[in-house]
Amino acid sequence: MKFAKDKSRSNLIDKNLQHQLRCTNTSVSVDLQKLTNCCAVQNVSKIPNQCQYVIEIPINDPIYSNNNKTCMSFNRAVTSANFSCPLMPATFMVEVSQYIDGSQIYGSSDTIATGLRTFINGKLRSDIVKGNQNTGVEEFCPQVNRTTLECDSSTNSRVCFQAGDIRINQNLGNALLHNLFLRFHNHLASKLFYLNQFWTDEILYQETRKIIGAVIQHITYDHYLPIILGETYTEYYGLFTPRTMYSDRINPSTSLEFAASSFRILHNQIPAQLNFIDKMYKIAFQVNLTDWMDRPDLLPMGKNVEWLIRGLVETTGREYQASYNQLISNFLFLYNFPDITGQDLLSIDIQRGRDVGLPVYNQVRSICGISLANSFDDLLDLIPFKVNFTTHVIEK
Ligand code: HEM
Repeated sequence: MKFAKDKSRSNLIDKNLQHQLRCTNTSVSVDLQKLTNCCAVQNVSKIPNQCQYVIEIPINDPIYSNNNKTCMSFNRAVTSANFSCPLMPATFMVEVSQYIDGSQIYGSSDTIATGLRTFINGKLRSDIVKGNQNTGVEEFCPQVNRTTLECDSSTNSRVCFQAGDIRINQNLGNALLHNLFLRFHNHLASKLFYLNQFWTDEILYQETRKIIGAVIQHITYDHYLPIILGETYTEYYGLFTPRTMYSDRINPSTSLEFAASSFRILHNQIPAQLNFIDKMYKIAFQVNLTDWMDRPDLLPMGKNVEWLIRGLVETTGREYQASYNQLISNFLFLYNFPDITGQDLLSIDIQRGRDVGLPVYNQVRSICGISLANSFDDLLDLIPFKVNFTTHVIEK
């Protein structure tokens, strides 16, 4: 595969890695399960725990005021049950494996992993879709058993994929990457079987899984991080793979600061539109990302897999800036919940930080051994001027 530009390469990788690293178990998460409209229960005498932190919208908001919306639903994350009640800070539950081990493909529990396997020659379950003369036969992730058109938070989806991470259907880019890794697994498993005819299904599955996990680690450390952090920082912190080795003495859990804040910053690179690009490198068509949330129906149609891969590779992510694209910051999940006028991912990310009790930025600087900032100028060491300038404006 040829990568056009570094930023587009990160666009492709981003989509899948996000879900490898963390999945906070929000009680009724916006994207994981059915959305509870917390705004509707704000006037009851006892507001349910998960609905305590709704987002208030100013009456003059340029988008939401059009529909007289002054409240955005928000579901609090679930804390771990602490039966002995020691006076300790609450911890937030994490649903997925904390290692970069391909759990988004294989699952983070035995039950899910078992449900995704064929138990024949190390392969994962898949659906073979027969297209027409031009498209041929293609392999896709298996579909969830359903009796209605409901798929995650969408009420009307023809296609509803199943994988190791339940957010597979959340957006088209993510669904695409899941399908590619499924194909990659099954392809590798057949190659290994060809070379090792006496290997059992279990050996074939585990060996293939090991290779896929290693490929994802290699992509993450050697290709993705240098784009995001720059080669100098990646080298400086010893993050390139030969120096990043497994150690059983290191606690691998993801810090809350990383999951609830730092890693979400990359939401600002998500483009509003996805391009489907044909083999002549012409844009065949374009869709709004937010029109297809939890509804991956487009993928198994025509040449869309090939065209979307090309689209993600050839399209640059958004320039780094202190905002998200206007569709995910106004109309996220709009299609699924027209009655609540979409959602604002930026507000949700900020509110999630409050929900899980993130320390303020200056405090984290100090925890990381960086001097406290006493003025806006002191922030310039780590924050580019443009972002810092926005902070000035907000402050005024
Ligand atoms: C099309 C693209 C994407 C959409 C629509 C999307 C949407 C979302 C939503 C709705 C949440 C849950 C917010 C909450 O309730 O707190 C979330 C969480 C998160 N996203 Fe994204 N996201 C996208 C891409 C990315 C990318 C590219 C990254 C990073 C590379 C990323 C990193 C994260 C992280 C770290 C979380 C927190 C996970 C957790 O702790 O549960 N996302 N995203």
